Amino acid sequence: MGPDLACDAAIREPAAYFGRALQDGPVQWSDSQRGWLILSHAEVEAGFRDSERLSAERTGAFARAAEGRSEAFGRAIELLSAWMNFRDPPAHSVLREPVKGAFTPRAVSAMEDQVQGIVDDAIDRFDGPVVDLNAAFAHPIPATVIASILGADPEDRHRFQGWSDDIGRLVFAMEPGKIAEGPVNRAVAEFVAYFGQLIERERRAPTSSVLSAIVHSPIGGLSEMELVGACTLILFGGHETTTTLLTNALCLLLERPELVEWMRAHPEATPSAVEEFMRVCGPARSMPRKVARDHERGGQPLRQGQNVFLAIVSGNHDRTVFAEPQQIDLTREPNPHLGFGWGLHFCLGANLARLEARIALNTLLQRFDRFEAAGPIPPARASAMGFGRRPVLARLR
Ligand code: HEM
Repeated sequence: MGPDLACDAAIREPAAYFGRALQDGPVQWSDSQRGWLILSHAEVEAGFRDSERLSAERTGAFARAAEGRSEAFGRAIELLSAWMNFRDPPAHSVLREPVKGAFTPRAVSAMEDQVQGIVDDAIDRFDGPVVDLNAAFAHPIPATVIASILGADPEDRHRFQGWSDDIGRLVFAMEPGKIAEGPVNRAVAEFVAYFGQLIERERRAPTSSVLSAIVHSPIGGLSEMELVGACTLILFGGHETTTTLLTNALCLLLERPELVEWMRAHPEATPSAVEEFMRVCGPARSMPRKVARDHERGGQPLRQGQNVFLAIVSGNHDRTVFAEPQQIDLTREPNPHLGFGWGLHFCLGANLARLEARIALNTLLQRFDRFEAAGPIPPARASAMGFGRRPVLARLR
C-alpha cells in the first residue's frame, strides 16, 4: 500500500494528507506509484541534489526505444537525448552551461518590457466582459513570450503547439518503444528545419534573442542537433508549465476574493504571492528519478533500477519548514518551496516564469476593478506528476 500521490485526499488536502503520511517516515514505498516516494522537505531537497544515486538519465530507455525503428525515429531520440533534464553529469553540464547565460536574473529582467507588451496585448484582445481566462490569457501569454524570446515569429506558436504535442507523446510515454513513430518523426523533422533556419540566421546576423545568446555562448560546443534540442526543450518546458501556473493562480483568486483585494492593495508584494502560488498550486507535484545504485535513504533500502518520485507537493506542505502549511500566506517569508526543483536540474526558466506571473497577475488586477467567476469554478485535476485547474470563465470590468 503506502501513500498515493494521486489519491483524492492528497489532491484536495495535501497539508493534512502528507502531514499524516510523514508520521510513517520521510521515504515510503507506494504500491500505487510502484516506486519510492520521497516525502519530507529535507529528503526531497537532498534527492534533487543526489544525481549520483538518483539518476535523471533517460538515454538508455530512449536508445532501447529506437532499436529496430526507422532512421527518422533515431533522430527523434537524438533530439531528446539533447534535453538536459534527461541527462546526468557530465553530459548534463555540457548541455546546460551554454544555455544558462541566457536566463540569468539580469538577462531575464531585460525581458520585462517585452513581457509587459505581450500581456497588455493579450488583455487588449479580450472581446467582452466574460473572458475564458485560459484561452485568452493564461495560454497565449507564455506561448508568445517563449516564441518571442527565442527570436521566432509569435504567430508560429500554433505550429509549435502541434509539434510539441506530438513530441510529448514520446516524452511522457510509459513505454517509449511502443508509440507510433509517424507523428513524432514529422514533428521532429519540422522542428529541426524550423530552428535550423533560425540558428543559421543568428549565426549570420546576431540579435538580442535568447537563441542568439545560446548560439554565440562563449562556452559554445553544442552541435546543430543539441542547439535544436535546447530550443525545443525551452519551448516545451516553458510554455505549458507557465500556462498552468497562471490558470491555477487565477482559479484560486476567483475562489478567494479576499486574496484579490490584498493583491490589489499590495502590488509590490506580487513576487512573494507568486512564490506562495508555486507552493500551494504549482504545476509540478513530483519529479521522477531512477535508483542508480543500491543505497539507504530515509531508513529505507532503495535498490538499483527502482522508480523514485521526489514529491514536491509533500515537501511544500512539510510543517517542519512551513508554519501552518494549509494556510495561503501571500507574504510567507522565507518560502523555500520546491516547485521549480532544486540543485543540479533547478528550473532554468524559473526567473522568467516568475516575471511572467508577476506582470500578468498585476496587470490583470490593475486593469479590471471587477474580477469574479462567471460560472462554477471547476475542481482541480491532478496526477502523481502534475496539478492543473481547468479553464475558467471570468467576468471582468
Ligand atoms: C511555472 C512554470 C515552471 C515550472 C513549474 C517549472 C518546473 C520545473 C522543474 C520542477 C524542473 C526540474 C526538473 C527535474 O529536476 O527533473 C524544471 C527544469 C527545467 N525547466 Fe522549468 N518550470 C517552469 C518554467 C520554465 C520556463 C519558462 C522555462 C524556459 C524558459 C523552463 C525550462 C526548464 C529547463 C530547460 C529545465 C531543465 C533544467 C536542467 O535539467 O538542468 N521552465 N522546471
